[in-house]
Amino acid sequence: MSKPKILVTRAVFPDVLERLLQYFEIESNQEDRIYTEEELRARLRDKDGVFTTPSERVSAATIAACPQLRAICNMAVGYNNIDLDAATQAGIMVTNTPDVLNETTADFGWALMMATARRVTESEHWLRAGKWEKWRYDSFLGADVHGSTLGIIGMGRIGQAIARRSTGFNMQVLYHNRSRLSEDLERAANNARYVSKDDLLRQSDHVILVLPYSAATHHTITATELALMKPSATLVNIARGGIVDDAALIEALRAGRIAAAGIDVFENEPRFNPGFLSLSNVVLTPHIASASEPTRRGMANTAASNLIAALTGGRPANLLNPQVKAKA
Ligand code: DGY
Repeated sequence: MSKPKILVTRAVFPDVLERLLQYFEIESNQEDRIYTEEELRARLRDKDGVFTTPSERVSAATIAACPQLRAICNMAVGYNNIDLDAATQAGIMVTNTPDVLNETTADFGWALMMATARRVTESEHWLRAGKWEKWRYDSFLGADVHGSTLGIIGMGRIGQAIARRSTGFNMQVLYHNRSRLSEDLERAANNARYVSKDDLLRQSDHVILVLPYSAATHHTITATELALMKPSATLVNIARGGIVDDAALIEALRAGRIAAAGIDVFENEPRFNPGFLSLSNVVLTPHIASASEPTRRGMANTAASNLIAALTGGRPANLLNPQVKAKA
């Protein structure tokens, strides 16, 4: 019997590709070219499944053009790159990679918050530029993290992991979420207090965004929200590009309406707004919050396991559309 055909859209760990090869006939892309949507569609036409990353958009038009497709397995917890409704209607299983990245992403949220509050990259650039001639009492004064108020917007598993870390820093935690957590979960999240988004923005010293992207969360942070924040506050975005109005953030940072920002995800990444580059009060990283070796391996293997289950008659562990009437 011939093996199902799959496309692996981007370069992956070679051992993960080896694993997939035991089950599938594979078209891979180890040279890591970025496909246009048309090219992706053409390559997917004769495939039963696809291993995607957050960079590939799998639109309704692509789904309609690929009647053989039975599974789309994304190597990410976020899946806003896939038209889930269109996939469900077409009988295609869609999966993501939750949980495996929670702790690593929470670590990175903290890394960005600390670097942003304490001006780590800004002062390093200054040192590397040969500008360090003497110690000064007011060099690179930043904001304290310990003892401050942390505001988390999006209190899912990653948000809760960020909150748990704050106990050692003696912080007060506020959160805003689609729905309130149970008392047990709030307690475990350093006694996090549920507040409105506006109250969180007004009261927090450090705000971290960890909510999923959707049409409803597009531009959760605009000039209006930034105007509510303390002038001394910092903002960290490890959620998704599009959650923040980047042009408004650049303007707020330039005008000193907030103190600083740490940004790992951008509108239109990787071609982000160049206005960020002219600012010293922003820490910029290229969408790497989940990028530790064990976690990226875990994500790749989770996506592979989902694809293997989906195309060999099993039920993928991370099925996003359990209501799907899967194709035979
Ligand atoms: C995710 O899993 O959604 C991350 O953004 C990918 O690194």
